Amino acid sequence: MTDPLQTDADGQALVAPPGDDPPGDLTCYAFAQSKNREPARLAARSALSTMPDVLAGRYCIERLLGAGGMGAVYRARDLLAEQYGDPDPYVALKVLNQDFAESPDASAVLYSEFCLTRYLRHDNVLRVHGFHVDTACARAFITMELMRGLTLDKLLCERPLGLPWKELRHIVLPLLDALAYAHACGVVHGDMKPSNVMLSEKGVRLFDFGLGRAEEGVLPGLPHLSRERFNAWTPGYAAPELLEHHSLSARTDIYAVACVIYELASGKHPFRHLPSIQARDEHLDVGLQAPARLPKRCWPALRTALAFDASARAITAGQVRDAFTLPSSWPWGRRNRPSW
Ligand SMILES: Nc1ncnc2c1ncn2[C@@H]1O[C@H](COP(=O)(O)OP(=O)(O)OP(=O)(O)O)[C@@H](O)[C@H]1O
Ligand SMILES: [Mg+2]
Repeated sequence: MTDPLQTDADGQALVAPPGDDPPGDLTCYAFAQSKNREPARLAARSALSTMPDVLAGRYCIERLLGAGGMGAVYRARDLLAEQYGDPDPYVALKVLNQDFAESPDASAVLYSEFCLTRYLRHDNVLRVHGFHVDTACARAFITMELMRGLTLDKLLCERPLGLPWKELRHIVLPLLDALAYAHACGVVHGDMKPSNVMLSEKGVRLFDFGLGRAEEGVLPGLPHLSRERFNAWTPGYAAPELLEHHSLSARTDIYAVACVIYELASGKHPFRHLPSIQARDEHLDVGLQAPARLPKRCWPALRTALAFDASARAITAGQVRDAFTLPSSWPWGRRNRPSW
């Protein structure tokens, strides 16, 4: 795991959060260096330790649901909704964690996550309710739909050999739908991985757009969400161009979702959770086998999506989905069909 105070080649501070996940599955952040780094960290930690039981006079924190590299997510009871007799007054509430909160851009990143998620209206994308600030403890937070279910990383722990196609298709197709929709809206997720997808009682939900951004320019109706001082990635799912040039595009998401699909189908990450540049240098793609439980028609598209070279990864989420659903057709033209 990265030392929290190491710097990367550009002199940006790298932060990898503590946790039990495999090293390649933690989100790493690179912030522009701040001269006041250590005092800011201490201040943020002490603020967290004094987080109140009720935020903004309305959200009663009940328990921790999960913690990632950026934030902690709690189950909370909306006291106002409860007062008006809402039979299900529960929400999920995301606050920034201590490592992250010290960055001067932290609240803007949380606001960006809120805006991007709200922008996407799709059955398989998590719904957000609001962005709030508790003025007493000076904490920004997001309230959102409380998902009840299993994230895909937890599902993989329960099913270490992966899932047969008849189960897998009910996860993979909606996930590709959600991703194709986000890309069609001009939004790149930026951190696709098993712990950012929930198999909930209401179906598959893609969430955690904390590292998301507009693929180009500014999205209509949204503020300019600047990220000049901030970069992040999850090593085991980040495509080479993201690790080497901090370059994020729909194709970066395609590499990551292909890793997730491969893992769900076989129980194993295609490249042993290694950073893609290391896997590429070790030629781990040579002889990569199709997962045995995946229908044969799916492999050419999945293999294309796993290409280390972004220019060879010439397939969209919608095309992967079509290849998975249309039995014997190669959806984007015979001429471009690769030889594997
Ligand atoms: N709306 C929700 N309902 C239920 N559980 C949730 C919800 N949102 C997040 N979680 C749980 O909290 C965990 C962390 O949430 P999230 O991925 O948003 O945090 P993060 O810090 O941005 O993570 P990352 O390490 O990916 O950057 C999730 O993996 C999931 O288990
Ligand atoms: Mg996450």
